[in-house]
This record gives sequence, structure tokens and C-alpha cells, in this order.
Amino acid sequence: MAKLRPNTQVIKRGLLHYTVGSDSRPKRFKPWLGDSFSFLYDFIMSDSVFPRKFGGEIRKHYDALSLELAGFHGKRILELGTGSGSAVHFLSSDNHYTGIDVSPGLLKQAAKRFINAGFENPEFYVVSADDLPFDDGVFDVCLCILSLNFIGNVAKVFQEVARVLLPHGLFVCSVPVPERNQLQSIIRGVLYSETDLAAMCRAYGFEFERIPCENGALLYFRATKLR
Ligand SMILES: C[S@@+](CC[C@H](N)C(=O)[O-])C[C@H]1O[C@@H](n2cnc3c(N)ncnc32)[C@H](O)[C@@H]1O
Repeated sequence: MAKLRPNTQVIKRGLLHYTVGSDSRPKRFKPWLGDSFSFLYDFIMSDSVFPRKFGGEIRKHYDALSLELAGFHGKRILELGTGSGSAVHFLSSDNHYTGIDVSPGLLKQAAKRFINAGFENPEFYVVSADDLPFDDGVFDVCLCILSLNFIGNVAKVFQEVARVLLPHGLFVCSVPVPERNQLQSIIRGVLYSETDLAAMCRAYGFEFERIPCENGALLYFRATKLR
């Protein structure tokens, strides 16, 4: 099990871990749209969100992330905003995977998917990306794929990622940015420009590098923790 912060209590319900609130009950979050539509999520992403909102292609998305990540083996990987588990498309099953999301409905789908894909003891936590229950310096790689725009406090996310990554750990992110939104579509959440994201990376001790991929409104970047 991923090492937790001191004084953090979690309980397991089925396939998911929950942190325990001050009322001694599993802490839950305001449902995200994805929870009620979790069974339709994959279809909505490939046939609607990618072509109509992003002006891109899901195949290109998986190709870019595979190129970046499929060569990783035996790494401790944390994903923020796991959703229904699309990371099985570009991660090798010999990594130690931990996924977090505010949506138990999507996380349950993800858990089944990771187990079926052959990952050993993957872990899933119903927590928010801006308040992680994990101890400092426990992951080699952190991913945030199509989720950063939904997480309210982005600066806090960078701070948390910097905290839970090991020195020289890697943060890989795919996120819509306004300057690439050629369709001028309404994309949900809060969009930051590449310049703002690069500045936030630097402010939290990362070196920012754009991953070369043209895929509609999406920016792909890697940020390496400097120390
Ligand atoms: C568009 S989905 C992306 C899911 C997945 N990464 C993918 O590529 O298919 C955005 C995800 O962010 C999650 N999310 C929203 N707010 C969050 C938060 N504060 N902390 C963690 N996850 C959050 C949603 O529940 C949803 O699963």
C-alpha cells in the first residue's frame, strides 16, 4: 500500500480506499458530472469530446502518451483524476499504479480495468488532487490526463505533486489550453495557458518541457522535479 501521511486514516470499501473525515465516516466529494454518466464515459470521450470539443483524436492522444510512458517499468505511478482508467492504454502493467479521483463511480470502473489488464495490486483512493493522503516523496511519476482543468485549486495541485514525487520525479500532463482551442468550443473547467502552466511548474520546482504533439486544444507537457 502507498505510504500515507502521518495521522491519515483510510478505510477500504470494496475496491476503493476512502479517507476518514472528522465524523469518522468515509469522506465523499461533490459528484462530478462523470459519476452519473460513468457507464457512457469512454464513448463520450472518443466520439464527442475529442472531435467536437478538442478538435483532436483520441488515437493520437493514446499514441503520444504511449510514446512518453509505455517504456516505464517497475515505477511507482500516481494518477490524479483517474476517471474510468484510460491509462491502461499507455501504461505497462508491471508498474505499481495508484489512482485517485473524486468520483467513486468512475474509480470502480478503473479498478476493474486495471485488474483485468494485469496490474498487480493497483490502489484507488476517493480523494481530491489538491489534498493527497500520501506521504512525501513516495512516487516516481505522477500523471494528470485531461483532469487538471477540473481541479479547482491548480496551484495546490502543483504543490502536492511536488511533495509526493521523489527527487527528479516526473509529472506528465495533458490538458486543454485556450490558445490551442481552434474550434472556440466551450471546454468545461478552468483553462490555463501554456505560459501560465510553465510558470507554475517553475514556481513549484519543476523544469517544464512541452511534449511535441499537435492534437486540437490539448497541450502535452512533462515537468521534472529539480530536487
Ligand atoms: C475528463 S475526466 C479525465 C479522466 C481520465 N484521466 C481520462 O483521461 O479519461 C476528468 C476527471 O477528473 C476528476 N476530477 C474532477 N475534480 C477532481 C479533483 N478535485 N480531484 C481529483 N479528480 C478530480 C473527475 O472525476 C474525472 O474523472
